[in-house]
Amino acid sequence: MTSRLSGFYKMTPKQRLDKVAEHLDGGLTEDEKKVLSGKRGFTTEDADHMVENVIGYLPIPLGVAVNFKVNGEDVIVPMATEEPSVIAAASHAAKFSYDAGGFTTSYSGSIMRGQVQVTKLKNPYTKMAKIYENKEKIIRLCNEQDRTLVSFGGGAKDLDVRIIPANGEEVLVIHLLIDTKDAMGANAVNTMAEAVTPLVEKITGGEVVLRILSNLADKRVVRARATFQNPFDGDEAKMDKFLSAHQLAVADPYRAATHNKGIMNGISAVVLATGNDTRAIEAGAHAYAAVSGRYQSLTQFERNGDSITGMIEIPLAVGLVGGATQSHQVAKLAAKILQATTAERLAGIIASVGLAQNFAALKALAGDGIQKGHMKLHVRNMAMTAGANDNQLDEVVRIASEQGKFGFDEINGIIQSLNQNEEE
Ligand code: MEV
Repeated sequence: MTSRLSGFYKMTPKQRLDKVAEHLDGGLTEDEKKVLSGKRGFTTEDADHMVENVIGYLPIPLGVAVNFKVNGEDVIVPMATEEPSVIAAASHAAKFSYDAGGFTTSYSGSIMRGQVQVTKLKNPYTKMAKIYENKEKIIRLCNEQDRTLVSFGGGAKDLDVRIIPANGEEVLVIHLLIDTKDAMGANAVNTMAEAVTPLVEKITGGEVVLRILSNLADKRVVRARATFQNPFDGDEAKMDKFLSAHQLAVADPYRAATHNKGIMNGISAVVLATGNDTRAIEAGAHAYAAVSGRYQSLTQFERNGDSITGMIEIPLAVGLVGGATQSHQVAKLAAKILQATTAERLAGIIASVGLAQNFAALKALAGDGIQKGHMKLHVRNMAMTAGANDNQLDEVVRIASEQGKFGFDEINGIIQSLNQNEEE
């Protein structure tokens, strides 16, 4: 399979879907195509099974990013997003990495932390020691809660204990370290954390308050690296601006927030497409960005001869089993398109998209700025909203860009004059 699908963006949605199916090992059945294209997709009944008080559902565009090679394998990446430019930017950036081998990733493993908060303790450090003394017992009790996970090699592996001054007392917080394997793991972790409550209260004589996973998934970290060919045609000033724009995100939290938001544009779009929990990923990413005590960039870039090497390091608690990843038909097919058979592979692809997204943003910011490309796509959206037909779209974008007319009324005016010309 190749992810280099040239001219892909010029095709119709149906042609694109056929192309994706053609390039996928095993292809896509007609039924699967109907699900992906929305012809036999999500229903209000499906929605009603997922959440409460349902009155309908909100459709979000599903596109695919092309040109990605991750760990030596070409991959077509489904992305669900309402924001124009995101999918185009990811595909554009990936192209600059493709010839140098694409993205290489590594994974710290799939350990999640489950927190158990213990209050009203006399001698908290003595109780801390007692928890460690009873570690095997606590871990055994955790693992009795999820035999399936344990049979796949997962389950509680270890624990550590912290004393946190809070609310005028020394609170003891146990971290259950649980390998959730190919699941995101929230259910497994929370079940285990709740199950150990009576035992923990017995050991400590304290009162257990909350029992819940931590979204700061710092033991489920993915790193991705790629070498991008120089995108500036030897323009050294732009290369300097690229590196300088990145450095500002390292030094300044105000810039880092926007820089990381751009990274999350790509990451959340794949997370959403695969039915994973976007809020868990966002919370984890931003907490990790601030873990040194100062909020900073999730990426690094270094000049490497005439190329730029980029790195991203981010916690990604994503899975392929459980929740909407399997119950949502589109999410299931998104994982099929990704050919992601493990959470590790999925996380590696997602981190790569985040890095590509960031490269694309910095390239645009170091050059003409983001508005030129962005407005083109924005105009396209507005033209569609204003009723332009498929044959008129390119022409409307051309005229609007040429004349710098980006307001809704102005776009409407352009469409009306095209309609008039067509009638004459
Ligand atoms: C817009 O959604 C994202 C950017 O602002 C990211 C950035 O500034 O790096 C373009």
